[in-house]
Amino acid sequence: MMIIGFPAELKSQEKRCSVLPANVKAYKLLGATVQVQAGIGKHIHVSDDEYAQAGADIVASRETLLTKADLVLSLHKLSDDDLAHVKGNALIVSYLDPFNEREFVTNLCDKNITSISMEMIPRISRCQKMDALSSQASLAGYVMVMQAVNHLDSVLPMMMTPAGTLKPAKVFVIGAGVAGLQAIATAKRLGASVTAFDTRTVVAEQVQSLGAKFLDIDLGETGETGQGYAQALTQEQMQIQQREQAKCIADSDIVITTAQLFGRKPPVLIDSQTIDSMKPGSVIVDMAAENGGNVQGSVATQVVTQSGVTIIGTGYWANGVAKHATQMYANNLQNLISEFWSKEDNKFALDIEDEVQSGCVITHQGQVVNAMLKSIYDANDAKPNDKEEA
Ligand code: NAI
Repeated sequence: MMIIGFPAELKSQEKRCSVLPANVKAYKLLGATVQVQAGIGKHIHVSDDEYAQAGADIVASRETLLTKADLVLSLHKLSDDDLAHVKGNALIVSYLDPFNEREFVTNLCDKNITSISMEMIPRISRCQKMDALSSQASLAGYVMVMQAVNHLDSVLPMMMTPAGTLKPAKVFVIGAGVAGLQAIATAKRLGASVTAFDTRTVVAEQVQSLGAKFLDIDLGETGETGQGYAQALTQEQMQIQQREQAKCIADSDIVITTAQLFGRKPPVLIDSQTIDSMKPGSVIVDMAAENGGNVQGSVATQVVTQSGVTIIGTGYWANGVAKHATQMYANNLQNLISEFWSKEDNKFALDIEDEVQSGCVITHQGQVVNAMLKSIYDANDAKPNDKEEA
């Protein structure tokens, strides 16, 4: 019988985990043996007893868990030490950040471990139920608004009271992908006046359908990749964007930046001069602070102040709602495993020719098998001093 192992998360700031008792029941129904590391749900107040009642074996030793599992499901990638205990031919599934973690990917090949990267699940309709980038980004959009509100010294909705009328806060969201759209929806629900901008003009309609304004900036041609991701702007287009959005930023009480470029560093969209033009007391949330940032002066994991403007770069956004984030991530994993579970063989059926698996399986039989990753590694090898441009 296939053993699915769920190790606890190692990062000290991480509260989420990769499984809830409801998922344990579902894996058991598939026919798997489920083992979870003791204490896996402690940060979200799910006890070992609850996992055990759902049918999981509670394993005290991480090493034992990893040694036995045929399938290891986690949120963050395992540590290098962990890999020493994982069986050859086992399958591990987690965020792997394979573009930036080449050494780790090489280790997986050396140890003959098959791996699936949750970031690489294709963004197609069939995969929406497995799409962890979307589930976590959506919650991040919500949490970023909550954090901004906590730092703002005024309210979001308009209030007409005997003591006077309070104007609605102005919120500007840059980047209207999954996180941005949820940030827009959340700020609207709280009564703010919301404006948004994205280089993909196709999202204008989605922004407007949420009751927000779409800032019209003519950047000329801006492309989309086959998977719907934004293409990087030219230097000239970046300058136009920064110039045209400057007034909207200066007028805003809250600015939330969510602009990302898949597999690349996020673009810097707000410079220090623009921050200086904002009203003291305003708040910026930089979703990308951990990866370099959309905002000059944002600091990963920190809340800082510049010219009286609070700049939030704390990251780990979905952690702010860790229980729901776990529920969604654990369901994403379960949907992935169920999709490819072979009832006949009672195991996960690996098929790297499948349209989904060819997108997200990274290593198999000692090789990097993912075409996109291979081409990026090859490009990096050809330009060893220019890795960040790949
Ligand atoms: P993302 O996290 O890669 O980027 C966030 C947003 O930033 C994107 O909308 C992007 O256009 C925008 N952006 C990039 N550079 C910018 C700039 N200079 N200024 C302003 N905005 C900028 O995107 P996310 O949220 O992961 O979504 C990527 C795509 O995948 C979207 O088209 C989304 O609709 C699509 N998608 C499709 C799904 C499906 O199953 N069909 C599921 C989820 C997403």
